Amino acid sequence: MTDETLSNLLTETRTFEPPAELAAHANVKADAYAAAAADHEGFWAEQAQRLTWAEPFTQILDDSSAPFYRWFADGTLNVAYNCVDRHVAAGTGDQVAIHFVGEPGDRRDITYAQLKDEVSRAANALTDLGVTAGDRVAIYLPMIPEAVVSMLACARIGATHTVVFGGFSAEALASRIEDCNAKLVITADGGYRRGSASALKPAVDAALEKVPGVAQHVLVVRRTGQEVAWHDGVDVWWHDAVDGASADHTPEAFTAEHPLFVMYSSGTTGKPKGILHTSGGYLTGTAYTHHAVFDLKPESDVYWCTADVGWITGHSYIVYGPLANGVTQVLYEGTPDSPHKGRWWEIIQDYKVTLFYTAPTAIRTFMKWGRSVPDGYDMSSLRLLGSVGEPINPEAYVWYRSVVGGDRCPVVDTWWQTETGMMMISPLPGVTAGKPGSAMTPLPGVDADVVSEDGVPVPNGSGGYLVLTKPWPAMLRTLLGDDDRFVETYWSKYADQGWYFAGDGAKKDDDGAIWLLGRVDDVMNVSGHRLSTTEIESALVSHPRVAEAAVVGASDETTGQAVVAYVILREGIDGVDGDALVQELRNHVATEIGAIAKPRSIMIVPELPKTRSGKIMRRLLKDVAENRTVGDTTTLADRSIMAALSAQAPRPV
Ligand code: WTA
Repeated sequence: MTDETLSNLLTETRTFEPPAELAAHANVKADAYAAAAADHEGFWAEQAQRLTWAEPFTQILDDSSAPFYRWFADGTLNVAYNCVDRHVAAGTGDQVAIHFVGEPGDRRDITYAQLKDEVSRAANALTDLGVTAGDRVAIYLPMIPEAVVSMLACARIGATHTVVFGGFSAEALASRIEDCNAKLVITADGGYRRGSASALKPAVDAALEKVPGVAQHVLVVRRTGQEVAWHDGVDVWWHDAVDGASADHTPEAFTAEHPLFVMYSSGTTGKPKGILHTSGGYLTGTAYTHHAVFDLKPESDVYWCTADVGWITGHSYIVYGPLANGVTQVLYEGTPDSPHKGRWWEIIQDYKVTLFYTAPTAIRTFMKWGRSVPDGYDMSSLRLLGSVGEPINPEAYVWYRSVVGGDRCPVVDTWWQTETGMMMISPLPGVTAGKPGSAMTPLPGVDADVVSEDGVPVPNGSGGYLVLTKPWPAMLRTLLGDDDRFVETYWSKYADQGWYFAGDGAKKDDDGAIWLLGRVDDVMNVSGHRLSTTEIESALVSHPRVAEAAVVGASDETTGQAVVAYVILREGIDGVDGDALVQELRNHVATEIGAIAKPRSIMIVPELPKTRSGKIMRRLLKDVAENRTVGDTTTLADRSIMAALSAQAPRPV
C-alpha cells in the first residue's frame, strides 16, 4: 500500500469506549486474550466444555496431516441435541427459541420444547424417506422456521446439509445438487418477498430435470398455498411426512469430525467451492464467539441476525452458535421495505430486540432512506449492534451507532469468512474501544497477522495480506471432493510458514488494530500505486450527497488500471447535479485520499448489482466499465439492474 492510500483511513481517529455497565457484566473480559495466548489448545478445550459431549475427547488438536487439521476428533456428540434437547433437559423448554415474523404479517413463537418435537418429527420423516447418516440433503427454502428445523433434523441424523439461497437459479441449484450428490431436496411452494409470493418449487423441478437420477425425493413445505406441479412418487408434502411423524427420536452421537454441512461459495474461478464444515469444532467456535462477541445473556436478551440462512452468517449466527447458547431470537422472512421502510425498526420495537446483527450494505440503504424512518420507532431495547460481510465505512458505522444505537450501543464489526466458520477479528464489546471502520483485533484463541508478499509481518502503520497463523476449531476442513484446490487456495501462498491465506488486504494502524481493505482481488493498481476499492468507496460515502458507492479498477492503456465509481445518491439533499456533481465528487476523492485515487469516471446510478447476501458484484461492474458483454448474472438478486447499468455505460476513452 502507498502512504497515500493509507492516510485516508488513518485519519479516522474517533474511538468509542465500551459502555461501563456492559463492561462490568461482560461475558468475556480482557484476561481471555492472555489465557488463550498462554495455552491455545487448552483455551479451546475449555470452550468445548460449553457443549454436551456423549463421549469426551482425549486429544484437542490433531495436526499430524496439516493443513487437514482435526479438532476433538475422538469425542462424540450430537449437534442437534446440543442446540435443542439439552435446553429442554435443563428446564428452559418453555423459553421461546424463535419469534418468527412472516412478511405478510403472520407470526409464530416456537419454544425450545416445541422445536425439539418439530426437529424430532422431521428427523423421523427424513429417515422414512431413506436418508441416513453420511447422506447429503439440499435445502432450498425461504426464511421460515422449517429452514432451521430442516438443518437441525439433518444434523440430528448425521446427514450433511447444503443450504442453497432461495434467490439462486435452477442452474445454480442443479450444480450444487449434483456436486454434493444430494439424495433429498427440501423446498417450499414459495415464499414472500417484497410484498408478493414468489415461487420456489418450479426451480427445483427444473433443477432435477437438469440432473436426473440424483435426488430421490423432494419434501415440500406449503408456505404460500400457490399452485405447484406435482410428481407422484418423488414429491412429498412436509405436512404429510413431518406433521404425522412421531416426536420421539433418540439422537445418535457422531464423531466430532463428522461432516455437518457444505456451503458453496464463489471463488476466483468459475466453479463454486464446496466448503466443508464438521461438527464438534465448528459448534465450539460458533458458540464461543456468539457468547463473547454478542455478550449473550440467554435469559434476558432478544437477538436478531438479519442474514439469510442460505449463507454462512445464517448457519453460524442464526442456527448453530445461537441455538447452542439457548438464545431467544427473531427470524424474519422478508425484505426491509415491505410493506414499509420501517419494517425492521418496527420488529425491533415489537420484540424489544437487544442484540442486532446486520450488514453494511443494509445500513447504507437505510442511510439513503434517511434517519426520519428509524427515528419513528422506539429502539431503546437495543444494547449492542453487529456488522458483517464487508468493510463498514466509518460514516456508516457512525450512523449505525448514533441513529440505530442511540449513541449508547457498541458496534462490533466482525471479520470472518465462510471458510473460517466463526468470527475471527472483532472487538469484544466489554473490552475494546471501537474505532469506526476497524474490526480491531483477533478474538481470544484466534491468531492473525498482516504480512508482506514474502511473509514478513508488516509494522504498525502499514498494509499487506491478512493471514491466520494458527488453526482454529471452526475452520473449514477441505473443499468437497477437491483436497488439492483446498491446499492450493488457502495454504500454498504461505506454505513454509503454515499460514492460512485469507485473500483479504488489511493494514495495521499505529496501535496495531486491523483495518480490512477488501479482497485482494479488488485491490487496484493505478500507475503503480495500489489503491483499495474500499477506501475510495469510503471517501465517496463520506460526501453528504452519497448513500452508497462501488468502485472497480477498469483496465486503462496508460495507467494500467483506472478507477471507475458507481454512486447512489441520498434522497432529499440539495446541491448541484449532473456533470457538476460528478466533478465535485471526483474532487472530493482527491481531497480525501489524493489525486491518484480520483475516479476516471463516476456514474450516478439508481441501484447496484448485488448478490442475495448483499455483496456488490464488482465483476459485473467491471464488465460495464470496460464495455464488455456482461458475464454470468445467475447469482444476482435482481437481474434487471444490469440492463439498466449497461445502457448508461461510459464510452471507451
Ligand atoms: C469480507 C461472510 C471487512 C471479506 C461472513 C471476507 C469483511 C469475505 C467483513 C467473506 C468485515 C466479511 N470487514 N470485510 N467485517 N466480513 N468480509 O464468505 O472480504 O460471505 O473475505 O463470509 O467478506 O465473505 P463470506
